[in-house]
Parts: sequence; C-alpha cells; structure tokens
Amino acid sequence: MSKQEKENSEKEKEFLAFIKEAGLVWGPSPEIYGGFAGFYEYGPLGKLLKNKVENSIRRVFNSQGLREVEAPTILPDIVWKASGHLETFSDRIILCSKCKSVFRADKLIEEKFDVSADSFSDKKLLEFIEKNSIICPSCKGQLEKDITRQNLMMKTKVAGEDASLRPETATTTYLPFPRFVSYFRKKLPFGVFQIGKAYRNEISPRQHVLRGREFTQAEGQIFVDPKTKNSWDKYEPIKKEILPFWDYKSQEKSEESVKPISIEDALKKKFINSQAYGWCIYLAYMQFVNFGIPKEKIRLRQHHPDEKAFYADDAWDIEVKLNNYGWFEMCGVHDRTDYDLKQHSKFSGQKLEFKNETGEAFTPHILEIAFGSDRPTYALIDLFYEKKGLGEGKTTFSIPYHMAPIDVSVFPLIKKPELFKIALDVKEELERDFIVDYDESGSIGRRYLRSATAGTPLAITIDFDSIEKNDVTVRDRDTEKQIRVPIANLRHTIRQLINGDIEFEHAGKVVK
Ligand code: GLY
Repeated sequence: MSKQEKENSEKEKEFLAFIKEAGLVWGPSPEIYGGFAGFYEYGPLGKLLKNKVENSIRRVFNSQGLREVEAPTILPDIVWKASGHLETFSDRIILCSKCKSVFRADKLIEEKFDVSADSFSDKKLLEFIEKNSIICPSCKGQLEKDITRQNLMMKTKVAGEDASLRPETATTTYLPFPRFVSYFRKKLPFGVFQIGKAYRNEISPRQHVLRGREFTQAEGQIFVDPKTKNSWDKYEPIKKEILPFWDYKSQEKSEESVKPISIEDALKKKFINSQAYGWCIYLAYMQFVNFGIPKEKIRLRQHHPDEKAFYADDAWDIEVKLNNYGWFEMCGVHDRTDYDLKQHSKFSGQKLEFKNETGEAFTPHILEIAFGSDRPTYALIDLFYEKKGLGEGKTTFSIPYHMAPIDVSVFPLIKKPELFKIALDVKEELERDFIVDYDESGSIGRRYLRSATAGTPLAITIDFDSIEKNDVTVRDRDTEKQIRVPIANLRHTIRQLINGDIEFEHAGKVVK
C-alpha cells in the first residue's frame, strides 16, 4: 500500500468512526449479533438529517402539485410478473474462483476505475477485468471468466401465496391509477409521490447506506398525455437553464467531456426526448442544488442504450462526486412511457386508460423522478465532514445551515436556577419551529465544540446579562462570531439566519 493509499484508508476509517460516534448511522445492524450486510440503523442525529432530506423532497414535489400517497411494501407476485421485475430485475455477477465470493461485476470495476461499467456488455466486463488484472477483493484470488445474473427480488409468502417485497415504490404507486383519475378530477397531467422503504437482494453490498438491501425511496410519478410532452407549460421558464449534461457518447471519452449546455440545446441535440422530460431533469437537478451540494459536484449522466432499465425510454442519472466513493448515482429520471400502465392492464384485466374531453381513450405516459433519501443523506455527511489532520485533528461538520440535523443549541452559561429558567423558556419558544438541543453540562467551550461537531449552525447562551436585558448570545458555528439578540426577536432571527436571509453581523449587536 502506498503512503497516499494508507492515508486515504486512515481518513475513511476516521470518517466511518465519526458517522458512528456522532449517532448518524450504525451498522451493519444488528451490531450486537455481528451485523447483517446491507442493513443499517440511523441514530438520532442521522434520523433528523434524513427527515430534513425527505422533507425537502416532499416540499419540492408538493410545490409542483404532486401529492403524497402510501402503498404497501409487499405485493403478490402477479404484480411483479406484470411489472417485469420477476423476470428481468437482476444484476450481473462474477464469482471468485478461489473463495467463491460473489460480486457485482460492474461495481467491482467502478470501485477502482472512473468508468460507467453499468453500460458495458458482458463481454466487455470480462475483458476489462482481465486487462486491468482485477482480483477478488476478499481473498485476492482470480475471478471466474463467466458473468451470470442474480435476481434482486426479496421473496416471501403471505398466507401461502408467493409475494415479494417491493424493489421500488414506483410500481406500487401506479396500481391505484383509476382512483387517481377520479381524485384529480379527470385532468392530466397529475402527479403523485411516495417516500418509503424498498428492498433489493443486492450482491455483496459494500458501500455503506449507498447500497443497502433495505433503503428509502422518494419517487415522484407524473402522468401525462403523450401529446403534451412537447408543449409543456413549465418548460418555457426553465429552457435556458444551463445544466451539466453528459450524454452517453461523450462517456466514452474523459470526465472533462461533460459540457454544460441549456436544456433547450439538450433537446435540439436529442440528448433528451421531450420538454416535459427536460423539466423533470431540471427539477431533480435543482433539488441537489437546494440541498446545498456545490454545483461542480453534480452532473447529469445519460444511460447507455444497453444500460437503461427495461421500463425506461429516456433515462438520466443525477450523480454527485463523493469524497469517499467518487461519482455516485443519487437520482434517476425516467420516461417510462405507457409501459407500466399497459402491463398492469394486461395482467389485471382492468382497462387503465384515460378518456379526454372528446371521448378519445389512451394510455397516459409516466415520467418518473426517482430520488432516494439514504444516498443524499450520506452525501451531505461525506461532503461536509472534515477532519483537519489525522488522529487528534479537529473534526468539523459544515453542513449547510438549512440541512443541519439540529437547528440550534441552547446553553445556560453556568448552573444557576435563574439562568435555567430563562434557558428553558427560550428552548420552549424555539421548539415551536426548530429542533433544539438543550445542554447544561460541561464547560461552555466543550458544549460549543459538541454543538459544532453535530453540525448545529447556531448556539445560544443565556448569561447574567440575559436576566437584566432580556437578550441572549447567538454564536455562529463557522466563524465563531457572536451577536446579542433580544429574546423577543429570537425565533424570527434564528429562522432568517438558518435560511440565509440575513448576514450574521446584521442580525444583532456584535459582541467583541
Ligand atoms: N423506480 C425507479 C428505481 O427504482 O430506480
């Protein structure tokens, strides 16, 4: 191992230790039984962060008129036969000839090389593995010269009937189609979304919550009249937006071949097939910008025609460049056309059609924005965690203020009943809007440090001046500057500071 490799592996170890110690993510769980690969727990801080991610996605979907629903996670196998998952939802695997460990062939390559091995044919996967002397990461043995397929569905039985855990929320969102038509008063387009668990029997999951066997999806589904896909109202205001499109032909070249162009140009160049789809891509991209992920760490990657899921006509991923795992898929945008509704019509015997005002019946198309919430949660930790120096160096978690798991800390300066009283009143007032961490133990310096390590943007201290002046000290996580803010204005000021609506120094009297 080179010095650089050793340092990187030390850094990764420290990062994973931080994730556990901070109460972000634990596992594989259950830890006390040795762990079950691909399953994780979110600790208190991690769950708060994941809630922020999900609520941010929820807000965006709701603001675009999509409405949230919740469907079962287990469905009879007829559904999965219809959707195509039972037959075709599989990954390509390769075995170690020595220890017989099983690996996902494309991921084995992508873990070491910055290529999209997803799009390689079986033959190309084997050639790449041989040419680059990739060996078994477990025992260093030679890999077999054969690629096979392993289905990813998790099977179960319900009252003796074959059933499966859902591998995506999407399919389960499509099934109440006739109910949606009635709820949305027989008008297209309409949109619905689900945030909930899905399950895949992933082969040797080794990338933390990025590739869990149980994970949370947050998928939006927009039902459209195919004739309106290129006269899409919401396209006009966003068509000149420049996005980092990386079409599949350019992927043969280098990473530098990502050339940001406007959505309009992407449509002209036939990178994307419709205005409506371009709008979906924009919405998904902006969500990652809204999370506070720097734009230079986001790209849009088109699927190679051989790589597209069986249901997708147009397929692009939003990828984020992680410190630990490089470019990683965070969201998929798919034009699923009329595939799903037609399949479920065929298998259920129910006509899943829409009748327009002239009485013409047709099958709507579905545009899908498939977020998950585990990956963006992980990305926010990966990108904003920093340790200055190895070992005893200072740990910072500079997550954007609006995404921080805990919004604000409240500390009485010292253990005195008159300070406790004000501090608890302040805490109660702020809890109307915020997640508040109240801490009265340890030195104030240690409490500031704990608060900053949890990524909490603001810390409020109640001191003796607070008794007379009815104000408190607010301390900024990143600059460590302090201001005095009247208690009467506190809730409003904290909101402005977290949303970035006001400069810190302008929000109160600066304390020298
Ligand atoms: N529903 C699309 C996906 O699971 O990726």
